Amino acid sequence: MKVGIIGCGAIANIMTNFAVEGKLGIDLNFFYDRDIERAENLALQVDGTVVLEVEDMLDKVDLVIEAASPQAVADVVPKVLEKGKDVLIMSIGALMDKELRERLEKIASSTDSKIFAPSGAIVGLDGIKAASIGKIKEASLITRKPPKSLGIKTEGETILYEGKASDAVKEFPTNINVAAALSLACGKDVDVKIIADPSVDRNMHEVHVIGDSGEFTTITRNVRCSMNPKTSVLAAYSAIKLLKSLNENIIVGT
Ligand SMILES: NC(=O)c1ccc[n+]([C@@H]2O[C@H](COP(=O)([O-])OP(=O)(O)OC[C@H]3O[C@@H](n4cnc5c(N)ncnc54)[C@H](O)[C@@H]3O)[C@@H](O)[C@H]2O)c1
Repeated sequence: MKVGIIGCGAIANIMTNFAVEGKLGIDLNFFYDRDIERAENLALQVDGTVVLEVEDMLDKVDLVIEAASPQAVADVVPKVLEKGKDVLIMSIGALMDKELRERLEKIASSTDSKIFAPSGAIVGLDGIKAASIGKIKEASLITRKPPKSLGIKTEGETILYEGKASDAVKEFPTNINVAAALSLACGKDVDVKIIADPSVDRNMHEVHVIGDSGEFTTITRNVRCSMNPKTSVLAAYSAIKLLKSLNENIIVGT
C-alpha cells in the first residue's frame, strides 16, 4: 500500500522511524508540510518524495495520513476523498464540526473511499463503541496535563475548561482529540474537564461511562512525544496499529 502523509511533525516522525525499521507494514512514500524542511527531513530517511502541493501525491497513493491540524482536515481531506483515496485522520477534533463531518462522509460514500480515525491517545474506545450499541447514559472525560503540554504556566492545579466536548473544541482545538474521539464513538456530546496540573509529568485521560450494558472507567497515563509534548506517543502508535490492521486477516478488538 502506497501512503502519503500531510504534516511532518511529532506523529509523522514516529511513523517514519517505524518505516525506517521496516515495521510500518506500508510504504510511506510522499511527504507534505507547509514547513518544507520538515517534509524533506522525513522523506530523506525513507527515500521518499516531498510534494509542494497535496494534489501532487493524490494520483500516486492508496491512502493519505493527515497528521497536521484541524484546519488541514477541512482544507485537504475533501480533495483526498474526491480522488477516491482513503484517509486516516489524526486531528479528529475537526470531525466535531457536524457540517464538515457530514460533507466528508458524503464525498467518501460517493467515491467509495474510507475515513479512518484511530483511537489516538486514549484507551477504551473499543468498549465505548460496544456499549453504544445499547444506551449510554453518561460519558465523561477528565484530561490532566502538565501545564507545558497545554501551553501555559501555572503553579497550582488549574481547571481550564469544564463543559461539553462540542464547546471545548473551539477553545482547545489541538487538545480536544480525545474528547472528540469519545463523543464520536458513543454518539454523545461528552462532559469534559481539562486540568493543567504541575504535579503530573504525563498526559492523563480518565474516562467514565455508564450505560445499560454496565459501567467502566479507564485511566491512561501517556508518555509525551519529545518533539511535541502536547502529543502522546500512544496516539502515533494507534495510527501505526490501525495501518497494520488493514493488512491483517484476524482483527481482535474493534
Ligand atoms: N487523535 C489523537 O488522539 C491525537 C493525539 C495527538 C495529536 N493529534 C493531532 O494530530 C495532529 C498532528 O499532531 P503532531 O503532534 O504530529 O503535531 P505537530 O505540531 O508536531 O506537527 C504538525 C505538522 O503539521 C504541519 N502542518 C500544520 N498544519 C498544516 C497544513 N494546513 N498544511 C500542511 N502542513 C501543516 C506543521 O508544520 C507541523 O510540521 C494535530 O492536529 C494534533 O492535534 C491527535
